[in-house]
Amino acid sequence: MAEDQNSSDIVLPEGKEPTLRVVPMPSDANYSGDIFGGWIMSQVDIAGSIPAARLARGRIVTIAVNSFLFKQPVMIGDLVSFYSEVARVGRTSITVDVEVYAQRRSLHETVKVTEATLTYVAVDENRRPRPVSGESGGQA
Ligand SMILES: CC(C)(COP(=O)(O)OP(=O)(O)OC[C@H]1O[C@@H](n2cnc3c(N)ncnc32)[C@H](O)[C@@H]1OP(=O)(O)O)[C@@H](O)C(=O)NCCC(=O)NCCS
Repeated sequence: MAEDQNSSDIVLPEGKEPTLRVVPMPSDANYSGDIFGGWIMSQVDIAGSIPAARLARGRIVTIAVNSFLFKQPVMIGDLVSFYSEVARVGRTSITVDVEVYAQRRSLHETVKVTEATLTYVAVDENRRPRPVSGESGGQA
């Protein structure tokens, strides 16, 4: 995970491609205009699943949200970028770190809004755990 900095100093991670980029809409916000935490959690789950599914070469399911931190709010119209990196590969499980950055629409600033760690399990057609073959590390 990148080091914490003042929000004004934060830029998008250099040399990395986001796994996912999304702009939240008014329908993703509550009546105060703040984006729902559940919307961000859902996008993080999708972003984390992409490198996990690639590594597992097939079907996966989310077994755990190991940690989740909402450091800064996400606003309607932000350009939200999700960076996923495989942190650990077990026998049947894959743990992925996801960092989320928001580029503010009006202020031309970038802030790190969320960091999370999730675990996925490779499953077979009967939804039973199956071994993963692959190596840890690497960005998706
Ligand atoms: C995923 C699932 C098939 C695993 O079945 P299970 O019998 O619990 O499997 P196991 O106990 O053998 O655990 C499988 C792997 O998950 C890991 N695991 C289990 N509990 C965990 C936890 N709390 N946190 C992180 N990893 C965990 C195990 O260490 C194991 O990994 P490893 O093989 O790399 O060591 C089953 O729990 C399931 O179907 N869950 C629902 C998944 C789902 O629907 N997710 C969407 C949200 S509704």
